[in-house]
Amino acid sequence: MQHKTAAVRVITFGTFDLFHYGHLRLLERARAHGQSLIVGLSTDELNEFKKGRKPVYAYPEREAILRGLRVVDQVFAEESLDAKADYIREQQADILVMGDDWRGRFDHLADICDVVYLTRTPSISTTATIERIQS
Ligand code: CTP
Repeated sequence: MQHKTAAVRVITFGTFDLFHYGHLRLLERARAHGQSLIVGLSTDELNEFKKGRKPVYAYPEREAILRGLRVVDQVFAEESLDAKADYIREQQADILVMGDDWRGRFDHLADICDVVYLTRTPSISTTATIERIQS
């Protein structure tokens, strides 16, 4: 896909709970693919549906953390896992960037935007952090 005329808009999705170094690296690398970065931030309800637990930090707190980052330009609520194509069109995104734990899962969106999977940062995740604190 060609992106010669307008500024390239990158989009990514996630919960970003207990914001950690792996999240920061993902967002920095995503932003480097274009001129602006939009984050579809999972609502508390969607996270509960996806991961079977409420996020530790509620949506407004997670949103405030993301908005405070230099590399994030826009944040909106991701309410449904099945609406990625609609969100991509609404946000007029050119590239979808996801961590490679999602590799292959969004290849079908390649007809509306570029799809890029980035290597996850090893040895850190929200789940591992919660388990470490609990033990
Ligand atoms: N991510 C990453 N490296 C990590 C952890 C997450 O690149 N070590 C990326 C994911 O691939 C995703 C984004 O960060 O694209 C948001 O991930 P999220 O699911 O919110 O964070 P996790 O730490 O993976 O959460 P959990 O342990 O609850 O699955």
